[in-house]
Amino acid sequence: MVNVAILGYGTVGSGVVEVLTTNKESINKRAGKKIKLKYVLDLRDFPGTPIEDILTKDYEDILNDDSVKVIAEVMGGIEPAYTFVKKALLKGKSVVTSNKELVARHGAELLQIARDKNINFLFEASVGGGIPIIRPLNQSLTADEIYEITGILNGTTNFILSKMADEGLDFKTVLKEAQEKGYAERNPEADVEGFDACRKIAILSSLAFGMQVDFEDIYTEGITKISDVDMIYAKKLGCDIKLLATSKKLDEKVYAMVSPMMIGKDHPLSNVNGVFNAIYVKGNVIGDVMFYGKGAGKLPTASAVVADIVDAVKHLGRNIVSLWSTKKMELMSVDNVLS
Ligand code: NDP
Ligand code: HSE
Repeated sequence: MVNVAILGYGTVGSGVVEVLTTNKESINKRAGKKIKLKYVLDLRDFPGTPIEDILTKDYEDILNDDSVKVIAEVMGGIEPAYTFVKKALLKGKSVVTSNKELVARHGAELLQIARDKNINFLFEASVGGGIPIIRPLNQSLTADEIYEITGILNGTTNFILSKMADEGLDFKTVLKEAQEKGYAERNPEADVEGFDACRKIAILSSLAFGMQVDFEDIYTEGITKISDVDMIYAKKLGCDIKLLATSKKLDEKVYAMVSPMMIGKDHPLSNVNGVFNAIYVKGNVIGDVMFYGKGAGKLPTASAVVADIVDAVKHLGRNIVSLWSTKKMELMSVDNVLS
């Protein structure tokens, strides 16, 4: 049996508890061991819920319990998430997280600690919600030199743009709906200004190219300036407006950017609507591959977090190698990205 703890009982954390409960038998079989949820950390009380008896408000309870081998961080934000995760890894506990802000900023360092300790730091849910993309880049596409990643990486903005285009709804109304559905970040500025997609393309680039791509270096523009008039003109031209994140490697240089773009109906990302995300990856051997699915929301995201818990349990005491190193990749001007 392996004891597990969850940090944060919000949209994703409650989904993780639900998935671990609903699919308990098959999850245990796949992990090869029984997974027991021993603690959930949150600052609120949850009387009458399944976590009532395992709730703690003190992280030290989890950190100092040597029987806890895997921790799922689903609180969000940099602090105290960074401190909690680093302390857990230094104590020899594997950590899985959905927190892209944390991964984009501190991923290289946390991966290095996991390597040194022969444990794991996994973050499948940090990009694309339920879509498997981290594991494929890290484990399935290892025969390839990846030279381009382009995708719709934010569910909230794609939901907003789709509803503005298809139903003529205004930006604020649709953003409110995305928040109610649990898609948006606590501060939705991260979604609508493109920062969330920027962190995600930084994570994918760092993994695929094997060096630290700093999200601060990526040119980023969100969707707040897109109006209903832009939508009408795009439609007249037979195009869709999508928030695209793209990263290209050319001669050891990387060009990356996030920006709303008009794409034709024949573009493979044109039919990706609502909360769905899609990621287009180009490799020198495999050619083009596309990953598609729900990019946000309670259960799709929890599916990815739980898959990481299973992987961490399966690989206790054995580090899953990742290419992402602490060496910094220099980014070039955006002028050539779309050429
Ligand atoms: P929520 O705000 O719904 O949940 C976070 C939970 O963590 C809240 O219950 C919060 O409690 C709790 N929490 C925060 N700080 C602490 C603390 N110091 N100690 C104890 N509990 C704490 O966020 P989400 O579940 O939506 O997102 C969690 C993470 O997953 C974020 O990094 C997000 O970016 C990421 N993510 C979210 C997706 C989604 O679709 N929602 C998809 C993919 C990734 P309180 O409310 O009291 O502050
Ligand atoms: N706010 C994010 C989105 C959650 O809308 O894509 C998933 O990372």
